[in-house]
This record gives sequence, C-alpha cells and structure tokens, in this order.
Amino acid sequence: MNKKILVIGGAGYIGSHVQKQLLDEGFEVVVFDDLSSGDIVNVLDGATFIKGNILDEALLNDVMKQGFDGVVHLAAKKAVGESMIHPEVYAKNNIIGAINILNAMANNNIKYIVFSSSAAVYGMPLYTPIDEKHPIRPINYYGYTKRAIEENMEWFDKLGKIKYISLRYFNAVGYHKDGCIRGKERNPQNLMPIIMEAATEKREGFSIFGNDYDTEDGTCVRDYIHVSDLAKAHSLALKNLFQNNNSYAINLGTGVGTSVKEIVDATEKVIGKKLNYSYAERRPGDPAKLTADATKAKEILGWKPEYTDVSEIISTVWNLEI
Ligand code: UFG
Repeated sequence: MNKKILVIGGAGYIGSHVQKQLLDEGFEVVVFDDLSSGDIVNVLDGATFIKGNILDEALLNDVMKQGFDGVVHLAAKKAVGESMIHPEVYAKNNIIGAINILNAMANNNIKYIVFSSSAAVYGMPLYTPIDEKHPIRPINYYGYTKRAIEENMEWFDKLGKIKYISLRYFNAVGYHKDGCIRGKERNPQNLMPIIMEAATEKREGFSIFGNDYDTEDGTCVRDYIHVSDLAKAHSLALKNLFQNNNSYAINLGTGVGTSVKEIVDATEKVIGKKLNYSYAERRPGDPAKLTADATKAKEILGWKPEYTDVSEIISTVWNLEI
C-alpha cells in the first residue's frame, strides 16, 4: 500500500514485527525509536530510521512535518512490577510521551493512529473470555497508563483531531518465522523470553509463580498470541482507518488459554531437553485466567490468528537459538 507510516517504537520487539509486516505490504516506513529497549538490528532494510525520544516534543513535531498518512505508537515502558515502584517513570514516558505524539499529530494534521494498548486495562477479569465491554479497572499503574492514553485518544477524537484504533494485546510471544528479526529484549520480564534464557543457559533456571490457582493444573492460564499475528492486525487497523475513518478499541488474542505448565512442557518438547525450574509463591496481581474474546477483531478488521498451536509458536523462538 502506497502510504507513509511513522512507527514509533519500531525497533522494539512488537514494533519490529509491525515494521516487517508494513514493509512486506509495500508501505513506506519511518521508524522512530530511542533504542532504550529496542535494538538497531531490528531496523530492517527498506525502513528509514530516526533516533529520538517521545519526550522530545520539538523533534516529534519536526519529524511529523514531513507528513504521514498514519502513526503506529508502540513506544512504552511495560514492566508491570516496575510501574508500581516508579509510577513517575511510567507517567512521564507513557502518558506524557503519548500526549506529545497526539499533540504533534494535531499540529501537523496527521489524523490516524494505531495504538499499542493492553489487556491490562481490564484489571482483574470478572469473566473470561474478556470482550471489549468488560469493565475497565486497571489494577497496576502500567495498565492505568494505557487506559489514560486511550482516554486522551477518545477526547482528541471527539474534538475532531484524530481517529484511532487501540489494540489491546493479550500475551505476545514468538518471533517472525523467517528469523529476520533477531534483536532480543534486554532483561526480559515475561515468561517466554525467561524460559528461553533458561533453555540457552543464559540463566540457571526459573520459577513458576503459583501452582494452586483454580485452573486445571494449578498454574495461571493466559492467551498467547504470535507476534506476527499481532503485527498483521496493525496493518489491518491502518487500512481500516483509511477506509472507514472510525475509532475502536479492539482485543487481540486467540481466545485459547494455555497454562504456564503447558508452556513449559511444550517448550521442553520443542527443545528436546528438560528445563530447570521450580514452583514459587504466586506473583502479586496475577489473575488465574486471562483469555480474549477476539470476535470484534474478526468483525471489524477481518483479522484472525494464523498461529494456533503453541508448540509452533515456541519453535519460532527456538529457531533463533539453533
Ligand atoms: N510467569 C512465571 N514465571 C516467570 C514469569 C512469568 O510463572 O518467570 C507466569 C506469570 O505468573 C503469568 C504467566 O507466566 O502467570 C505470564 O506472565 P508474563 O509476565 O509473561 O505476562 P502477564 O500475563 O503477566 O502480562 C502480559 C504483559 C502485560 C500485559 C498482560 C495482559 O506482560 O504487559 O500480559 O494480558 F498487560
């Protein structure tokens, strides 16, 4: 598609996959990233790179003066635990950073934004699978920042400045199947990269947080969605904005729940060896089960996940190691 997109946070884990998807579909892609957690190796051939931070209002304004058909915003701090210890860091980077982006868009008449939101906006699930009508009650500051940004987008929309699609991700996992994205997250906090570090002996082992939940095997159940499927939803969202000019908040998950123990067992099968782990106390704030109702993504975007087998998803990560 012959449109020019600014991908903010495009050198990060999800951003690089979005970049790949957009380049493959013929979009013109400019990546804006401060490389604080992203990696320059994730900037792919064909994309233009601008090193910058979203707190730099003047630079954002200058960059947007080039003119863009749309913005994808994925630049954010995302460690839930850290957000409860340093809310000030999350307030600044996530909320102020996003407002700077919206302001720069308004100043430069750029109308369309696809935003990287999270299932964390819902807080403790009152029911599963969670649809978009589920009450919004974040229980950690990270989730609150995502909601605060959605609220600002709702206002900017009402006031005629933007149209947005907020994509509420469930648990993003996997890597592009071609191995074209190789930058790893530094100091990962999520289950899959932690397991992979244990599998490659970058760490001694890991803990499964809690085995006394009200689930089949006692460990937490999550909705693991392949990052390339997530990425595809971003290009569909952009195209939807260009065509229909409507704003939405949309869940992105598979609807299938997989327990931590099932992930660990599946990983052992994929890598062909035992992992070193033990059971530990529950992690505060973890719901027993979190799965998505992704009906709206299908209806509005025509999106459906291609990866449905968790072993296949795990293989896309392991293939980078072997
Ligand atoms: N887990 C372990 N051991 C670890 C790490 C994680 O047992 O070393 C468990 C967690 O307790 C949880 C599951 O693995 O039950 C998944 O944990 P992650 O930290 O990978 O992911 P979360 O489900 O906690 O959170 C993720 C994103 C959030 C997002 C949320 C929404 O990290 O940003 O999904 O669903 F808000």
